[in-house]
Amino acid sequence: MHVHRYERAWGYFSIGLVFVFFLAILTAALAGGIQVPSPVGQVNPADLSQTDFAKPGLRELSPGHYEAYLVAQAWTWNPSEIHIPAGSELTIYVTSGDVQHGFKVEGTNINAMVVPGQVTKVERTFETPGEYLIVCHEYCGSNHHLMSGKIVVEAAAAP
Ligand code: CUA
Repeated sequence: MHVHRYERAWGYFSIGLVFVFFLAILTAALAGGIQVPSPVGQVNPADLSQTDFAKPGLRELSPGHYEAYLVAQAWTWNPSEIHIPAGSELTIYVTSGDVQHGFKVEGTNINAMVVPGQVTKVERTFETPGEYLIVCHEYCGSNHHLMSGKIVVEAAAAP
């Protein structure tokens, strides 16, 4: 079969691109710390009282290590505020009690879907004190635009 040399060149170029893209993903994952939010468990969205989400909120696992259980519900986050000291490593488990929501934390790379029945897990270390706005970025009904919360990272007290 005869393949024109231009066609062959473009063929090699296309295959080369696949490797470039693959390298870009590896770089983002390893150097940029970008992680794919993954479902880590399943719950019955109609009865969160039988799950870890029965008492949403922040728990301290050890000094500097926290986990938070967060429930998205039209149109609030429960809890709507999470307070941690600067430098803390925070693991957030989030699920929805009703419809699909979006979970984005401004100023960070946290950006995930919240799907009823699925538990989404994200992790991050918050070094810089400040208020990080939590927004819902998946349309979830008439008050979707009001659905916000925040993570407050408090400066460590002077010794
Ligand atoms: Cu929740 Cu939009």
